[in-house]
Amino acid sequence: AQAAPAPLGGIGFASVPANVVPMTDAVTVPAGYSARVLVAWGDRLGAGAQWNPADPMDEATQLQAYGAHTDGMHFFPFPGAAGNVRGLLVSNSEYVDPPLVHGIVPASAYSSATITLDMVRAQQAAHGVNIVAVGKDLIGRNHGAWKLIHHSPYNRRITGNTPCEVRGPAAGHPLLRTAADASGRRVLGTLNNCAHGHTPWGTYLTCEENFNGYFGSASTFDRTAHEARYGLNAGGFGYRWHEADERFDLNTHRNEANRFGWVVEIDPWNPASTPVKRTALGRFKHESAGVVVGPDNTVAVYMGDDERNEYVYKFVCARKFDPKNRAANRNLLDEGTLYVARFDADGSGTWLPLVWGQNGLTPDNGFADQGEVLIKCRQAADRVGATMMDRPEWVAVHPSTREVYLTLTNNSRRGNTPASGNQPDGTTAAASANPPVDAANPRPDNDFGHIIRWRENMGSTAATGFAWDIFVKCGDQATTKTLGGSYTPDGHDGYLGNINGDDYGAPDGLWFDPSGRLWIQTDQAGDGKGDWVNIGGNVMMCADPSSGETRRFLTAPRHCEVTGVTATPDGKTLFVGIQHPGEDWSVSPTDNSTWPDSGINGPTTASGLGMVYKPRSGVVAITRDDGGVIGA
Ligand code: FEO
Ligand code: CA
Ligand code: CA
Ligand code: CA
Repeated sequence: AQAAPAPLGGIGFASVPANVVPMTDAVTVPAGYSARVLVAWGDRLGAGAQWNPADPMDEATQLQAYGAHTDGMHFFPFPGAAGNVRGLLVSNSEYVDPPLVHGIVPASAYSSATITLDMVRAQQAAHGVNIVAVGKDLIGRNHGAWKLIHHSPYNRRITGNTPCEVRGPAAGHPLLRTAADASGRRVLGTLNNCAHGHTPWGTYLTCEENFNGYFGSASTFDRTAHEARYGLNAGGFGYRWHEADERFDLNTHRNEANRFGWVVEIDPWNPASTPVKRTALGRFKHESAGVVVGPDNTVAVYMGDDERNEYVYKFVCARKFDPKNRAANRNLLDEGTLYVARFDADGSGTWLPLVWGQNGLTPDNGFADQGEVLIKCRQAADRVGATMMDRPEWVAVHPSTREVYLTLTNNSRRGNTPASGNQPDGTTAAASANPPVDAANPRPDNDFGHIIRWRENMGSTAATGFAWDIFVKCGDQATTKTLGGSYTPDGHDGYLGNINGDDYGAPDGLWFDPSGRLWIQTDQAGDGKGDWVNIGGNVMMCADPSSGETRRFLTAPRHCEVTGVTATPDGKTLFVGIQHPGEDWSVSPTDNSTWPDSGINGPTTASGLGMVYKPRSGVVAITRDDGGVIGA
């Protein structure tokens, strides 16, 4: 299923300098490399006219255009040799900045604007998944440049209103039934699609993360413990959809929120296919889904729940992958065992099964059946004694050893900080007080994050035990800052880290290339200030997992995060996502981003439309000027 990796020949590029204040508003890559914009929010997918970013976005335009806030993505190559120059780029559009969608300045005015259904529909259409045929221009004027293939029949948008099927043990569960869907098996849309996964049978997995933010209530919302555990609250994240679209009103449609927080499987090769919410993988704030196929064709999926003090999960399919029969794999993710991780201080770990009737997952404790265990997955994991982690983000699996790496991006609620109870977004964390440091999460107020890794016992994909260690503690070796207040007095150490090479922090995106180089993408404020004065803005790093050697490969525009990375099979084109450049664009435009329409990474489809100040999330294609393998 997975190509044998070439031996890692080390990292062959010279680091780019940190992007410190005054920051360069560009994607910068090493000497000998080029980064060029491929697609950005609002770019037409088909034959229609290009949207002018100066205009408000509307639903009809957005349904035919690339979504907002690009995140996880995967390149599905066309068969054969053409796969290095043609393929489907499938990517997530995680969320929107409503003021950017509607052109509201200053952004703060959105909170008092009148919300119309047209506005909500435009925002919902900007969410979801993009399936776009892309190819390298082999004959034209821009020889060698990657571009969208506008006439491709594969081009498709899946949005916050696209019908999805629900399958697996929770399908049809009473907690998933609504007034509009008595079956509990048909949901409109997928939301907050953060990171992703892909299967060896050629499908894409999109992961629903902070779905709670879209729900709200105009009246008092008397939430249950279950609703609180998933962060539902009357204000949501300020989207205010419930004011015009009653589906998102918590009091009116109590079960609608239970229909989000899933991993959704999509067949990009069949434009008529219905996305499927795979409930067997559990419901939480899914970040990514790392799929592994063992030597005996056992399939496992590793997943993180990205919130402070949440958990790491593994799903093992009951049936094996059949490399010769694609159709036989189509519903593999519906049957199997879901586990949650406990990391012990001796470097061992245990996968604890989340199986109804076992370990207290019984009706007496609020779990009527396996469907309820999956819908209330966080509570089930609380009960079996899993380890609370420092915000589990992406999973990456080494292409030959199957060692699993996981980013733990940061955790301001770790250690002996004052117990603060509920989180700012209304979520009730697993513990009402902050957990102490432990072996797997060793730093209080973990500002810079770390990367943990594990190996299954006996190399078995189905193992219920593993061995783990910390690959790296991130930090800033040049800082003079010390931990203060009520923190455990480890002083300077908390910020130093132990990186063998260039400093970085807040690791989030994580991916192995086919040669075994580890690529790490970061998500911090991206303004190069405060804790980040030496590290600068967000980056993509490249690490050798055996030596730990780490170099800065890419620096990013102002106030963005770097998220989403994939490559052609030959490793000679890397696609990298730039999300929310100029995050506070209307607050301080002089200190902000005009990427990509500034043209600094090549002309964009909006070039010539006179639009140079509204920043847009987008994807760059990175190639080597000598045509070589990226990173080598
Ligand atoms: Fe959407 Fe946890 O990042
Ligand atoms: Ca992320
Ligand atoms: Ca993040
Ligand atoms: Ca961010």
